[in-house]
Amino acid sequence: MDGGHVVIGDRVMNLNWIIMHNPLPVCTSANHGHHSDCLAKYCLVRLTNKGLWNVPFINNCYLINARLIKNKNTRPSYSEGDLDADMAFAYANRERYIFMYVTNRLDFGHLVNPDNYDITVTHPDLYQIFDNKLDWEKKYIHENYSENFNPNRTPMQPCPDVYWFPIVNERFTKELIDVMEAYGKWSDGSNHDPRLTGGYENVPTRDIHMNQVKYEPQWLYFLKEYVRSLQELVFTGYYHDDPRIEGGYEAVPTRDIHMKQIGLHESWLNILYEYVSPLQERVFIGYNTNPPRSLMNFVVRYRPDEQPSLKPHHDSSTYTINIALNRVGVDYEGGGCRFIRYNCSVTDTKPGWMLMHPGRLTHYHEGLRVISGTRYIMISFVDP
Ligand SMILES: [Fe+2]
Repeated sequence: MDGGHVVIGDRVMNLNWIIMHNPLPVCTSANHGHHSDCLAKYCLVRLTNKGLWNVPFINNCYLINARLIKNKNTRPSYSEGDLDADMAFAYANRERYIFMYVTNRLDFGHLVNPDNYDITVTHPDLYQIFDNKLDWEKKYIHENYSENFNPNRTPMQPCPDVYWFPIVNERFTKELIDVMEAYGKWSDGSNHDPRLTGGYENVPTRDIHMNQVKYEPQWLYFLKEYVRSLQELVFTGYYHDDPRIEGGYEAVPTRDIHMKQIGLHESWLNILYEYVSPLQERVFIGYNTNPPRSLMNFVVRYRPDEQPSLKPHHDSSTYTINIALNRVGVDYEGGGCRFIRYNCSVTDTKPGWMLMHPGRLTHYHEGLRVISGTRYIMISFVDP
């Protein structure tokens, strides 16, 4: 079982080889399956060097010279005493001087995780953001997404504090529309909305929520993975992570003690509610100080014979994202978003491009009239 127990000999090397490639770190030492001890070391090797390493242990996915399999004396064995199958395999190889290697010189691809592939949904691949993230990104993220982070480029700003980023590709936008239309239960556009706590929607649209098509967890993950980093570019420091705060990172730290730590959190909220809110109401009129903490994620459909436009309103969010899902001038005419305070409209939206703007106080806005065709947008109210 000694990991160093190998004899280098050209004859053996040439005849018998096993190469294993795995995108994950590989355990190499004689720690007999307890991988965590060597992960850090091996990660470093893999990131900084390209090479071919002779190792005492491989598992999961490997290439084997067919001659080894044909020969009874060298074919893989997965049973040895009380060792598990992987350890038995590596042990048997070592005992027979069958050399094992890992390499990162060539890309052999990667394994797909099929465990949660649900063929009953309209576009199964769209739902694979958790299980097969690498493939998901290749299929759905906008080809220029990473350019958003180029320090030499200033984010586009079609209206004051309204930012514009490419985020998903056209395949994503088309498949999301398909998912929604296959589900088909668009809201009726009235103020009565049984999906909401309280059942009343002040600014109703014709829409379908992400949780209705079972895409809520995927969408929240998408926000965290692909939207949050863009938000940080333009609304810097908005996310305050701290051990006392979810996430644990404080971008703008001070020496402080939270009211929670001294048991005054509830009292403080009460003071805010009782004494501060009335003052705030005088200057930021109509801002709802006691909103429910929930995320609203939905696709809206505008069409002339249904709901063509949306009256001026504030969003119940700290900031809103609005992703165009289809093409103005092709799929529909008209439409767009007008920010009333700035008398500024964004009408030349592009599928897969996301608008990001403050939800409350400053960005009173309206949905402009769709004259023909159907316009689809994906909306999230972040931090209501
Ligand atoms: Fe809105």
